[in-house]
Amino acid sequence: MPMSRRRFCTQSMAALSLAALSKKRALAEALGSTGLGDLYRGDFLIGTAVSNRTLETQDRGMLDLIAREFSAVTAENCMKWGQVHPEAGRWEWELPDRLVRFASGHGMYLLGHTLVWHSQTARDLFQAPSGGGRISRDDLLRKMEEHIRTLVGRYKGKVAAWDVVNEAVDEDKGWRRSPWLEILGPEFLERGFHWAHEVDPAARLLYNDYNMHNPGKARFVAEFVRDFKKRGVPIHGVGMQAHVMLDSPTIAELEASIRLFADAGVQVHITELDVDVLPGREGSATSEISTRVGYSAELNPWPDGLPAEMERRLARRYEELFRLFLKYRDRIDRVTTWGTSDDETWKNNFPVPGRTNYPLLFDRKKQPKGAYRAVAALKNSG
Ligand code: G3I
Repeated sequence: MPMSRRRFCTQSMAALSLAALSKKRALAEALGSTGLGDLYRGDFLIGTAVSNRTLETQDRGMLDLIAREFSAVTAENCMKWGQVHPEAGRWEWELPDRLVRFASGHGMYLLGHTLVWHSQTARDLFQAPSGGGRISRDDLLRKMEEHIRTLVGRYKGKVAAWDVVNEAVDEDKGWRRSPWLEILGPEFLERGFHWAHEVDPAARLLYNDYNMHNPGKARFVAEFVRDFKKRGVPIHGVGMQAHVMLDSPTIAELEASIRLFADAGVQVHITELDVDVLPGREGSATSEISTRVGYSAELNPWPDGLPAEMERRLARRYEELFRLFLKYRDRIDRVTTWGTSDDETWKNNFPVPGRTNYPLLFDRKKQPKGAYRAVAALKNSG
C-alpha cells in the first residue's frame, strides 16, 4: 500500500475511533454529571417513588442519586390516607413535609399519591363516629372533603399533580366494589376531583390504576374520563401504573391504551413502572394489593444475582418500553419508576414475600444497570 494511502487509512481509523470514543465519553459524561431526567428533558419527566425509609433515615446517598437522575418524585407511601391521617384529627406531617422540601429544593415535579384509595386507609375511616356500624353517606363525604381540603391545601403550589383517585375500577366488571363505592356510589370520584381543584386550581389531577392495558378496563376508564370532561369535572390526566412483566403486556396492548386515553382528551402519565423478572404463579401477574402467593424456592431462583441473559432481557424490555413512550412523547407527561434501586422495591415482597427481584434501573448497590444504559442510550444514539 503506498505511503499516502496507508497514512490516509490510519488517519481515518484514528478519526473513527476518536468519534466512537467521544460518543462514548459524551454518554459517560451525560450519565455521570446529569442523569436520565436531563437526557429526557423535552420529551417527558422521568420520575421515581420515594420510600418512607429514605425519608425517615434521610438517606443522603439515595437522595443525591434521586436528585441527579430524576426530574419528578412521587410519595410512595407517606401521603396515603392511613399514613398522613391515621385517625380523625391526627395528621402525620413529618415525612410528607420532608419530601416537599426535597422536591422544592431541587426544582422537581412532585406527585401527591393518593387522595382516595380503598387500601392503606385510616382504620376507622368507614366506621360510624358513634362506634357502631358503617359510616353514613353524609359523614363519609364530610371526612373526605376535610381530608382533601387539608392535604391539598397544605401543599398548594408545591405538589404539581395529585393521583386524586386510585384503583377504583375492577378488571372487567366496571366500578370496584369498595366501601367508597358502596357508601357513596361512583359520585365519590367527581367529588374528589372538584374539591382538589377548588383548593389548588393549578394542580394537575389524575385518575391512576394498574392493568390499564386490559382493553375492557381501559375502555371503561376512557369513557368516564370523556364523561367527566363533558360535564366539567376537572380531570387532566390518566395514570397507567405499568407494573409489567418481561413478556406481558405486549407493546401493542400498552400502545392501544395510551392512544385511547390521549383520544379521551387527557395527558398520560406512566406512574409506577417496574418489570417483574421472577417466575409467576396464578395471581402474580396482577397488582391487586390483596393478592398473596406462598413462598417457595422455585419462585425465587436468583437470590444471589440476576444471570447475564436475564439482565439483557430486562434491558431489552426497558428499551422497547421507552421507545414506545418516546413515540408518544407529546401525549405522555411523565414516566415514573416505582422506586429507584432493587433493594427497596415492593416487588421483593409481592405477591410472594421474601424474594429477590430486579425490576428497577439501579441495582442493590445503587449502580446503574444494563436497563438504565439501554434507556439512556436511546437518547444518545441520534
Ligand atoms: O408504616 C408501617 C410501619 O410503621 C411498620 O413498621 C411496617 C411493618 O410492616 O409497615 C409499614 O407500612 C408498610 C408501608 O408499605 C410503608 O412502608 C406496609 O406494611 C406495606 O404493606 C406498604 O406497602 C406499600 C403498598 O403500596 C401498600 O399498599 C408499598 O410500599 C408500595 O410500594 C405500594 O404501592 C402501591 C401504590 O400505592 C398503588 N399501586 C400499587 C402499588 C404497589 O402495590
